[in-house]
Amino acid sequence: MHTLDLFAGATPAAGERRALGSHAWLLGGFALPWVEQLLPELLRLRTLAPLRQLSVPGGGKMSVGTTSCGLLGWTSDSAGYRYTRLDPQTGQPWPAMPAAFLELAVAAAREAGFEGFAPDACLINHYRPGARMGLHQDRDEHNLAAPIVSVSLGLPAVFQWGGLRRADTPQKVPLAHGDVVVWGGEDRLRFHGVMPLKAGEHPRLGPRRINLTFRQAG
Ligand code: SIN
Ligand code: FE2
Repeated sequence: MHTLDLFAGATPAAGERRALGSHAWLLGGFALPWVEQLLPELLRLRTLAPLRQLSVPGGGKMSVGTTSCGLLGWTSDSAGYRYTRLDPQTGQPWPAMPAAFLELAVAAAREAGFEGFAPDACLINHYRPGARMGLHQDRDEHNLAAPIVSVSLGLPAVFQWGGLRRADTPQKVPLAHGDVVVWGGEDRLRFHGVMPLKAGEHPRLGPRRINLTFRQAG
């Protein structure tokens, strides 16, 4: 058994870091000092670029509601996945990335050993109970040398942390409000996903989980 598996299943205390690979870290509670700045920005962003349930190439819709901010936004339809400068729904540029978002993303990347992270895209995923994200790789980004920084807010979730092949059995990594996962380098193309969200009521965010995923896409 891999030694890292010994820790699977335990939620990290705030301030605890756990290696998920040679270039991947779970930073327990790292986003907590930013939360009160992030929440009003999230409400504002949703009025500019509403949440939507995107169609995916195989047919069907994502169970997660998504929107984006930053120079580039991630979008999907029956033709495929891509980054765009304009929100296809509004025809307007995606809302600018709020300063607090950028500051948190850069600080988390640095904490995980990635200096100079300059995200130009932030995907905002909104999970209601039952919503899930199937196993996938983040590979639509132009710059695969830069890491992914993924921030969890609200209800707890079980992150599936797989290998470089789809068939690799994923580890189950519990994620709590304020946790940040950073992956890059050799771990950049790991398969990952989110198990169906359990029903619950988060004291600050209510019956939902919000995930912010920062990328250097362009
Ligand atoms: C994603 O892979 O885009 C989302 C991951 C998460 O919600 O934690
Ligand atoms: Fe992803």
